[in-house]
Amino acid sequence: MTMILNNKRILLGVSGSIACYKALDLTSKLVQNGAIVDVIMTEAACKFITPLSFQSISRRPVFTNLWDSGHGDIGHIEMGNSTDLAIIAPATANMIAKLAHGLADDLLTTTILATKAKVIVAPAMDGNMYYHPLVQENINKLVKMGIIIVGPNEGRLASGLISKGRLSEPYEILGHIRAILGKGGDLKGKKIVVTAGGTQEPIDPVRIISNHSSGKMGYALAEIARDRGAEVILVTAATALPIPVSVEIVPVKTAADMHIAVEKSLENADALIMAAAVADFRPTILSNQKLKSDKQNLNLSLTKNPDILGTVKGNFIKVGFAAETQSLETNARKKLLEKDLDFIVANNIIEIGSGFGSDTNRVVILDKKGSINALPTLSKQEIAEQILDKIVEIIQ
Ligand code: PMT
Repeated sequence: MTMILNNKRILLGVSGSIACYKALDLTSKLVQNGAIVDVIMTEAACKFITPLSFQSISRRPVFTNLWDSGHGDIGHIEMGNSTDLAIIAPATANMIAKLAHGLADDLLTTTILATKAKVIVAPAMDGNMYYHPLVQENINKLVKMGIIIVGPNEGRLASGLISKGRLSEPYEILGHIRAILGKGGDLKGKKIVVTAGGTQEPIDPVRIISNHSSGKMGYALAEIARDRGAEVILVTAATALPIPVSVEIVPVKTAADMHIAVEKSLENADALIMAAAVADFRPTILSNQKLKSDKQNLNLSLTKNPDILGTVKGNFIKVGFAAETQSLETNARKKLLEKDLDFIVANNIIEIGSGFGSDTNRVVILDKKGSINALPTLSKQEIAEQILDKIVEIIQ
């Protein structure tokens, strides 16, 4: 669960498109993250999917009709007033046209006119419709009004056409919601550089030396820092994770690449958090041909990689991780001193539910003043919150 969505009131407007099914997934993700989701469906949306589906996931009444007396106190004015953020996903060409011209002929359009909250519109339609000059003009009007347009994405559409028009994926929309809600957070105006993933050191054109890092810890840090208003640069080795929204991504392969990218990113940075698992050694010789596999033994000569965290210098908070299998605190404290860090996150990587690949982690945070904070097993998002709390504390 991410803190930024906890107890936030989100108004989700759903208009009539085959992409309505994705709005169910979005509702589920919002609810799982603690948001209170009020769904308004247009009449056309109800032809694709039933209000009951949204009601089952949001566990709240779903509204479909401006004239329905069942709203009680939560009429369109009240709903518009009480929402932290409104999102229309999917937004059809018709819905976008109505919004662009201020029409208010149903509950959704009326409520959007009545809200002062930020509005996100995620279009979904066939490619030819999307590129029609009138639709483009209407979208531009919405942008000028300060409405945030998310997507659409390129891909296969219901008509079979490969074009722009697909509703953005729910995780992307969720990323935009989190970024917008977090704009005024306690890291506003701060620049944070995060590293993630395991570097890959090539042996030959086929083989690499790497490690088990999935990037989850680093990505959680980047996303939570963004949720708290920071400008974030994520220097990332290859991972299978979706690219976070509103975060500057710098992809790298090797430790040497990461070193260069981190140095560059650090200009005017307030903090560097190195969650990446950097390969300590690389093959001394990179073979430009595939090594033959017909031998019984193969000896590789390895050369030490630069210690990125140990060498970067500047006026920023330096945070390291220590991936350990034994003597956790002793080894971590040694790294804290050797690398001249503000604090280090000692990570027991052999405990169940901790370390590489898992969604949770178990860490002890040790700082240069001697304080020790042993945390229970928490989600990587919760660990990220704790690390960022400590950064805020130091900045203050
Ligand atoms: O990615 P996940 O699957 O979510 O897993 C998370 C994690 C286990 C990778 C993460 O929590 C973690 O512990 N990252 C640090 C891994 C590591 O390389 O630890 P280390 O003890 O070897 O290095 C100490 C610190 O120096 C680290 O911050 C590392 O990024 C940095 N380092 C290491 C070597 C090097 N040449 N340059 C460095 O900057």
